[in-house]
Amino acid sequence: MKLSGNKILITGGASGIGFGLTERFITEANSVIICGRREEVLEEVKVKFPSVITKVCDLSKEEDRIELYKWISENHSDLNVLINNAGIQNWMNISDSDFYQKASSEISINVIAPVHLTNLFINLNSLDTIINVTSGLAFVPLSKVPVYCASKAFFPFLYYFITTHFKIKKYRGY
Ligand SMILES: NC(=O)c1ccc[n+]([C@@H]2O[C@H](COP(=O)([O-])OP(=O)(O)OC[C@H]3O[C@@H](n4cnc5c(N)ncnc54)[C@H](OP(=O)(O)O)[C@@H]3O)[C@@H](O)[C@H]2O)c1
Repeated sequence: MKLSGNKILITGGASGIGFGLTERFITEANSVIICGRREEVLEEVKVKFPSVITKVCDLSKEEDRIELYKWISENHSDLNVLINNAGIQNWMNISDSDFYQKASSEISINVIAPVHLTNLFINLNSLDTIINVTSGLAFVPLSKVPVYCASKAFFPFLYYFITTHFKIKKYRGY
């Protein structure tokens, strides 16, 4: 991937690793769009980097993901990079009374959201790159975070097949 002149959507781009990516891609002369649930945190990024475009969006909600895609395709149809960065990590044990609730919220943000966004955004003609932020825990798991490890291990397998498809369509998945 070329490192400048892109239009990039970074999910969860207002804090943590996502903010690091935002900062770096802005410095490298890219146009950056970020999304997240907390408007005030998105606004803080705009104060630091006025060129950053922000969108409030809860990626655990299917309707918000569809609305995000519609908004991008109508207003930023030249978007060429999708970075699926937003993710959460919950400590849990299978015997916890709220195991299912914690596991489902983690799966919805770490797995369902990137899968759905990938499926939506490959319809943009300009899209040429998808980056998924995974984790070393996909390969060296930690027992306190079993669902997190599994959610991150999901992507190498999924993208093995998606990349094969992308090669045919001249897309690449990382
Ligand atoms: N930190 C690490 O050591 C580490 C190591 C390896 C991999 N990772 C991966 O790196 C990625 C970023 O992690 P991080 O540590 O930087 O996390 P973080 O500091 O907690 O930031 C997560 C970002 O995702 C957004 N987000 C969370 N839930 C969301 C939702 N439902 N809808 C929209 N946005 C949502 C948050 O914004 P809002 O709260 O405003 O929604 C926030 O901007 C994750 O995929 C994580 O698994 C992290």
